[in-house]
Amino acid sequence: MRLHRDIFTEPSDVDPDTLANLGPLRPLAGVWQADKGIDVNPKADGPQTKPFIEHIRMDPIDPQTNGPQLFYGMRYHIHINTPGEAITFHDQTGYWLWEPATGLILQTLAIPRGQSLLAAGRADADARSFSVSARRGDPTYGITSTEFLDRNFRTESYRIEITCHDDDSWSYLTATELIVEGKPFDHHDSNRLRRTGAPAPNPLLLARKPVS
Ligand code: HEM
Repeated sequence: MRLHRDIFTEPSDVDPDTLANLGPLRPLAGVWQADKGIDVNPKADGPQTKPFIEHIRMDPIDPQTNGPQLFYGMRYHIHINTPGEAITFHDQTGYWLWEPATGLILQTLAIPRGQSLLAAGRADADARSFSVSARRGDPTYGITSTEFLDRNFRTESYRIEITCHDDDSWSYLTATELIVEGKPFDHHDSNRLRRTGAPAPNPLLLARKPVS
């Protein structure tokens, strides 16, 4: 990784239009739904396989700089139920970020189990599939969990593969490696999302748009 000589000065000519600069993340922007999700999770009497219904919002945020480093991205929220049950089955929030200068892709993930992670990968602007991953113990792209989880459902690694399809849908496959009662457990999920709403421009672009 090229260390920046000047770690403070931000790029001057930043394009305020996030949707135009999301690269491989552009097909994910907007509002999505799917009702054929499959989850495999750990239960006392063995793996439980369950279908689920998923709603996702991916909202463009303003360009983000760390000194000279420039990211374009989206804030996302995932809400999941199972058919016929009102209670939340899985909830997740975070950011998807892409760095045009290097192709670095980041996903932050927080779930209300007392767990969060930062996963990383790389992709070109026109990539139609990409993946990011994180590993417990990695000081940069790692996984942190509350004691109960770290003791009983130690989360060793996380990986998500995303594929964008030509019919304006996209699919994912996650593999979350847990250690449960001393044995590895592949907690995996998959789904194919269909668009239910277009993305709104990021706040800065809206603020700069002349009021008609
Ligand atoms: C579509 C995505 C996901 C769904 C539908 C899902 C669903 C579930 C379900 C149903 C359980 C069983 C325990 C329970 O009934 O609450 C579970 C356990 C667990 N999940 Fe997920 N999960 C998803 C993604 C993830 C991700 C991305 C992580 C972390 C990176 C994660 C971490 C865990 C852990 C640590 C447990 C064990 C805790 C326990 O069983 O009490 N899950 N998940």
